[in-house]
Amino acid sequence: MSDEIRNNITIVDNGNGDEPQLSYTDNKPFARVLEARLARRTLLKGSAGATALGFMSLGLAGCLSNSSSRDDDDAPGNGGGETGPLIGFTAVPTSESDEIVVPEGYSYQVILPWGTPITGEYPAFDLANTGAEQGMQVGSHHDGMHFFPIEGEEPFEGSSDEGLLVMNHEYVEPRFMHLDHIGVALGSGAVVMRGDGTRDRDQALKELNAHGVSVVHVKKRGDNRWELVQSDYNRRVTGLTPMELHGPVRGSNLVKTKYSPEGHATRGTLNNCAMGVTPWNTYMAAEENWAGYFGNRDNPLPREHARYGIGAQDSRYRWALANGGGEEFTRFDATSTGASATEDYRNEPNCFGWMVEIDPFDPTSTPKKRTSLGRFGHEGVVFGPAIEGQPVVCYSGDDSANEFIYKFVSEQPFVKGSTDGSILDTGILYVAKFNDNGTGEWLPLVYGQNGLDAANGFADQADVLVNTRLAAGIMGGTPMDRPEWGAVDPNNGDVYFTLTNNSGRSTEIGANPRINNQHGHIIRWQEANGEHASTTFEWDIFLFGGDDGISGQANLKGRIPGEAADGSEDVALTADNLLSSPDGLWIDKDSRVWIQTDIGEGSQNTGVFEVFGNNAMLCADPATGELRRFLTGPIGQEITGVITTPDQKTMFINVQHPGATTTPAEWGTDRRYVRSSWPDRNPVRVPPRSATVVIWKDDGGVIGS
Ligand code: FEO
Ligand code: CA
Ligand code: CA
Ligand code: CA
Repeated sequence: MSDEIRNNITIVDNGNGDEPQLSYTDNKPFARVLEARLARRTLLKGSAGATALGFMSLGLAGCLSNSSSRDDDDAPGNGGGETGPLIGFTAVPTSESDEIVVPEGYSYQVILPWGTPITGEYPAFDLANTGAEQGMQVGSHHDGMHFFPIEGEEPFEGSSDEGLLVMNHEYVEPRFMHLDHIGVALGSGAVVMRGDGTRDRDQALKELNAHGVSVVHVKKRGDNRWELVQSDYNRRVTGLTPMELHGPVRGSNLVKTKYSPEGHATRGTLNNCAMGVTPWNTYMAAEENWAGYFGNRDNPLPREHARYGIGAQDSRYRWALANGGGEEFTRFDATSTGASATEDYRNEPNCFGWMVEIDPFDPTSTPKKRTSLGRFGHEGVVFGPAIEGQPVVCYSGDDSANEFIYKFVSEQPFVKGSTDGSILDTGILYVAKFNDNGTGEWLPLVYGQNGLDAANGFADQADVLVNTRLAAGIMGGTPMDRPEWGAVDPNNGDVYFTLTNNSGRSTEIGANPRINNQHGHIIRWQEANGEHASTTFEWDIFLFGGDDGISGQANLKGRIPGEAADGSEDVALTADNLLSSPDGLWIDKDSRVWIQTDIGEGSQNTGVFEVFGNNAMLCADPATGELRRFLTGPIGQEITGVITTPDQKTMFINVQHPGATTTPAEWGTDRRYVRSSWPDRNPVRVPPRSATVVIWKDDGGVIGS
């Protein structure tokens, strides 16, 4: 970059760009946790045995159990039919290295880094790639992911050698994407403005095209490694892809725009964090921190913007200021400029914050935003097992401080072979209320009921859904410590949710019992009568994060002494398993609970977080309480996204934002010093890149066994 240009630019930075948080509290605290736990013990012992069965084995503690062998082929969690302990690997230590570390006896391969050509003209990766070329390449900041067996029939059954790997791309770091951002002192969320105050148009296009979802046909080779198949299935869904709105919000005045005066459509999906897999073999991409992509200078702001953190500030990447204009860019400024909503983009932010259904086996299909599932900072969605003739049930967390956990119950029953995504368009969205005595209730968000009516400014069910957070607060949902991924144990129906952290929590409540919750916890519940559609449940805390001291205090305080399966009291986490900020979560068919961490890049390897090292993935056996660290990642990243092939012999995980801890000064003064050079090891020419990691066991066994 010449000095003339360098002197003529402006750098703007809305923060580190990772997960900007809006903290909101409007619910009252409950009683202290210890009293709650004791009350619940009484309740469990006095209730029907079946109700308590899901919680028979608490006490996730240090890796201390010596009674972990499994010799009963019928035991839950032994679905593979193998004998021996569920967790058979030796824990890896914490790491501050710029490497992937897996247990002894495992190997890995890195595939599909940002910029890998997958479709169209297959343009080779180069930092000089255009915006259009990015639209034919893998996006950036890989997150939630699923492997769809190539038969295209069942989401978890079929080929383990060939399939469609479908993954989200959560956000971008412009400094790593554009040639003229190299050598400029930029933070991970900063962008360079042109001298006339605009953004370079093709850079804005490149960033939009680096968002969204990739569908990639992949195939296993003879040596356990996997390769890309150049196939018509390969597809990029981006921040510009035409999408339809479905469910109660379709056609509402709140989503009518100049692009879609009928309120039926919008363009693109953004900030796709975790995901979901439907029982009918489609993919659901979540829209999480989408609000930061918009600005609105109207005064007063509509509540459907203000409650989500949209304000007069410029949008995250300044796309609305792309030089030359164009509504695909200017729509990110939601300020009212036209005579009516169909003459501007005041309602564009209302077209985001949804779960987006994509059929990976139909590359020409139009993605559908399923508005019945609510509008908030969707981390992802997890479905309960689909049962013939029963409603479809799915759970979704709102990852922002003091926001809520939701579930949707379909009106129509599941019918294998004929049910499709339209079943998600009618039903009831509930918000979770976690009582401090270990019980819980699902509170319906239905227009006309319990104050969700004109008295509180709601016009109809579409209004309730566009303002889901507001409605949930009015109903009395429990504000949580940033709900991230959920998972359902396929063997007993227990539902788990990670609550990653909430250092702003100043009052203890039963389900979020730590003030200044720096390290997060995992909550678990079982629905009444084992039915996911039930409106009541019983909950427990599965795990408190922390170092060996903090986690021990929390586990001892937050648990019922003697409730562990072996009668011992819970103890602190140890060097083999201490963790902070649980985020990614998945339970495999044998009931291994896979836990991924996301300590923010501003905290990693410093202060109280130093002991945890780089972000990692751990594996728990909920029956024995064992927990072991399985993998550590390179510098500056988070581990996120996890799935195995149906035979459980190949695991795919994602490494997101390696090198994000690089400071502006480091990036500005010496491009070669970027902290991480993962995975290319070519710091002079290639910045760190998000990528997928394929893991296998050298003896061909089940991952984790
Ligand atoms: Fe994008 Fe809540 O993690
Ligand atoms: Ca993150
Ligand atoms: Ca996440
Ligand atoms: Ca996170």
